[in-house]
Amino acid sequence: MEVVIKSSAEEMSKLSAELIADVVRHKPRAILGLATGSTPLGTYKELIRLHKEEGLDFSRVSTFNLDEYVGLTHDHPQSYHYFMWENLFKHININPKNVHIPDGTSKDVPGFCRWYEEQIVKAGGLDVQLLGIGSNGHIAFNEPGSSLGSRTRVKTLDEGTRKDNARFFKTMEEVPKYAITMGIGTIMDSRQLILLATGAGKADAIAKTCEGPITALVPATIVQLHPKATIVVDKPASTKLTREYPAEPSVLVLS
Ligand code: GLP
Repeated sequence: MEVVIKSSAEEMSKLSAELIADVVRHKPRAILGLATGSTPLGTYKELIRLHKEEGLDFSRVSTFNLDEYVGLTHDHPQSYHYFMWENLFKHININPKNVHIPDGTSKDVPGFCRWYEEQIVKAGGLDVQLLGIGSNGHIAFNEPGSSLGSRTRVKTLDEGTRKDNARFFKTMEEVPKYAITMGIGTIMDSRQLILLATGAGKADAIAKTCEGPITALVPATIVQLHPKATIVVDKPASTKLTREYPAEPSVLVLS
């Protein structure tokens, strides 16, 4: 695991987009694991720029998203389907058939979760998984206490997570209580991980993730065990780290 501190959120986004673009350039049929939330937005903007200005080609790329709220239809403005199409997919040349996002409207959620896992395996496994982090240290919607070996399944959201995400909904009651999420085991199977964090609100979670003991109570700490993980943070998210970290990864081209 490598920790990189960038001077700004914009610099963080440029680096993470470059790491993803590098995977796609080396493997045009790359399988990308994608994330939602405000943190990866800059990465998506930069990937769109690389597509439009530098011809980064997504035509053979496949994607699998980490999670989706249970009960929100695909056209709901707060659904992760809507988020991904608005903020990335409609701006690049991805084949819609290659896009996979958990279906929060599925009538058979356990069956859907098994199918989702099978599709990832059938595609050849994730080449790189992009991750944000919750202020409680969750990754995807794997809340504290989640099994470190878990697979895709439905999870009850912590009240803190619902409060963090309430800013996107009109009322607290509208914030979904459940989500379908890739498991921690699913995420760890990805050949590469990129975990991003910005802002002082993530400083605690980042300090625990990088320097604390590995524990299910802070699910992101599992990333310490991954052989090819890069944690990229901006200055405010780095303030509780006690060790020194570089501003560039030791090897930019990781693939
Ligand atoms: C949600 C998502 C996570 C994301 C987290 C942080 O809980 N399920 O994947 O990492 O929000 O969101 P933000 O980047 O907006 O802080």
